[in-house]
Amino acid sequence: MAEKLIIDKDLTEEEKYLKLILVIKNLLTPEDHLISNLANLVAAIKQTFDKISWVGFYIFNGTELYLGPFQGKIACTRIALGRGVCGMSAVKKKSIIVPDVNKFADHIVCDESSRSEIVVPVLDNGNLFAVLDLDSTEYNSFGETDKHYLEEICNFLSMEILKG
Ligand code: SME
Repeated sequence: MAEKLIIDKDLTEEEKYLKLILVIKNLLTPEDHLISNLANLVAAIKQTFDKISWVGFYIFNGTELYLGPFQGKIACTRIALGRGVCGMSAVKKKSIIVPDVNKFADHIVCDESSRSEIVVPVLDNGNLFAVLDLDSTEYNSFGETDKHYLEEICNFLSMEILKG
């Protein structure tokens, strides 16, 4: 039985993240299959924020990134390391906030209505496991609060689920 995730629309972004993180910490368990955990994680994030048009994982297979569990429109299945926002975040192992995708020269267009984006790497024992990608149809949708809490979520995934 999955946890209940009820988000009051009047909460601040920070309060929404705190609620989301509480739920995620009970929802994800090392006993469940990794795909089930990743699928529930993206669903929980999408359910929490109306501003998200697409959220999902691109997973590293040792050569390139491939599309993992996601919520949103159909998307490209492979991204080369270093390409797009995802490939750049994967190489640098750093989060990247893109306030306006038109100003990110190598942005890969999966959905033409996407306007801003944030990508956060997920490490497994210091090695790249995946990147978590969030898109919005509005400009400037993601900032330091998103970066802070999404990094906390990816760190939980790394330490408690991947056990890296
Ligand atoms: N825009 C991303 C590609 C993935 S989609 O947004 C789902 C990028 O430039 O890496």
